[in-house]
Amino acid sequence: MRLVLPMPGNEKMADALAVSSGAEIGRLETRRFPDEEAYVRVAGDVRGSRVYILCTLARPDPKLMSLILVADACRDLGAASVHLIAPYLAYMRQDARFAEGEAISSVSFARVLSRAFDGVVTVDPHLHRRAALSEIFTIPTRIAHAAPLLADWIKDHVDAPLVIGPDSESEQWTSEVAARAGAPYVVLAKRRRGDRQVEIAAPDLSAWKGRRPVLVDDIISSGRTMAEACRRLRQLDFAPPCCLAIHALFADDSYAELSALARDVVTTDTVPHPSNAVSVAALVASEVAC
Ligand code: R5P
Repeated sequence: MRLVLPMPGNEKMADALAVSSGAEIGRLETRRFPDEEAYVRVAGDVRGSRVYILCTLARPDPKLMSLILVADACRDLGAASVHLIAPYLAYMRQDARFAEGEAISSVSFARVLSRAFDGVVTVDPHLHRRAALSEIFTIPTRIAHAAPLLADWIKDHVDAPLVIGPDSESEQWTSEVAARAGAPYVVLAKRRRGDRQVEIAAPDLSAWKGRRPVLVDDIISSGRTMAEACRRLRQLDFAPPCCLAIHALFADDSYAELSALARDVVTTDTVPHPSNAVSVAALVASEVAC
């Protein structure tokens, strides 16, 4: 039997997954002791089951210990195997030592998860300097790709789109989205000067005047990349862009700031957020069914 166990906050996605994959939904009890240590209880029989613990990993630090406790409890209670579904997989962007002494967070995080789980399912992890998750995970990983869903949203909602990647890293998504949406695409140049400071430069876009810019990126985190790209396009006399991203992290007031600059701000539901307009549940379910 396949059993999806949602960590707190993941219930809506679990319901959608169960509908699409035919898996059963299990139940957990979680709380904090007065000293803030985590308490978890698996409320049901997991013996012999292939257990999928569902936990999107935006703002991961307060979630991690409970997640490891649930995985260990399932194993102790006789689950046949214990897998993680993390629609958003955290800590993938610090994938190199940029300054002496820095932790390479993606490697450390993958090591922790590889010890706790038998496999990981995720959606479009941020792979930049790594070609595949198998370079850092020692367990099987499966990746669902949201680009076709974003392309379908563009086809349904935007006339004469120009798909734009805000930086070179985004080209892996923008090229695929543009091809499926039947739209041209261009890529801007980004220089990051700090966690919240980015500069965006644009090539000559005069050939595309009259098209609706559609910015596509994998993650909106501080929101600076999207916001600065919107401002650059406004300086070039483009109409307000549609901003599409897979993972809606949106630190601080970045959603409000971006909403004031864009025609639409649209994300998938890998991270629950008011901008979610595209569901990845069926995509993820197809990976669970394998
Ligand atoms: C680049 O590293 C990523 O693809 C995103 O462009 C980046 O994570 C967005 O970050 P922020 O919203 O903080 O500018």
